[in-house]
Amino acid sequence: MRKILKFDDINILAKKLGLYVKSGDVLVLIGDLGTGKTTFTKEFAKSLGITDNIKSPTFNYVLEYYGGRFPLYHFDMYRISDPMEVYEIGYEDYIRGDGISVIEWGDLIKSELPEEYIELLFEYTDDLDNEKRYVTLSYVGEKKVGEDKKEEEMLRYVGFSD
Ligand SMILES: Nc1ncnc2c1ncn2[C@@H]1O[C@H](COP(=O)(O)OP(=O)(O)OP(=O)(O)O)[C@@H](O)[C@H]1O
Ligand SMILES: [Mg+2]
Repeated sequence: MRKILKFDDINILAKKLGLYVKSGDVLVLIGDLGTGKTTFTKEFAKSLGITDNIKSPTFNYVLEYYGGRFPLYHFDMYRISDPMEVYEIGYEDYIRGDGISVIEWGDLIKSELPEEYIELLFEYTDDLDNEKRYVTLSYVGEKKVGEDKKEEEMLRYVGFSD
């Protein structure tokens, strides 16, 4: 589902998603430069109880944070040229691990994403103050019975339904 949200409401959404996620969940963040992926991750991390300052994992693709309710593995794939490069940084272990993986620019490694994940798409609006975004939140998974239910349940939990 797609909604237009003010920054404050995006931060509330990040908080609620932080309360919703379970061990091993993967969040894929998609959106042009500056649309708010890192800011979202900061709020999400706070919601997990992580007090560290979240920085952009530019050179090594991934940074790990502990001390919250779950470990957080924060990826930024912006500089990746070939999706296979993710395996050089132990991607599989992170994705299969007990922590929560948040993957900025996850669309750049689309072929290597897990079978199920939560997807957030951020898009600019024509709002002149630049304080709003179109936000699309969906649950991506195998086309099997129950998938719609999971998305529905998530949207309801985080207050993203109509
Ligand atoms: N939810 C938000 N609340 C407040 N400010 C925000 C929010 N989202 C984005 N911004 C503003 O937009 C700027 C860029 O956001 P951010 O760095 O999160 O984008 P990004 O999508 O991670 O960009 P990149 O693709 O370069 O990594 C922030 O420095 C901030 O000024
Ligand atoms: Mg970023």
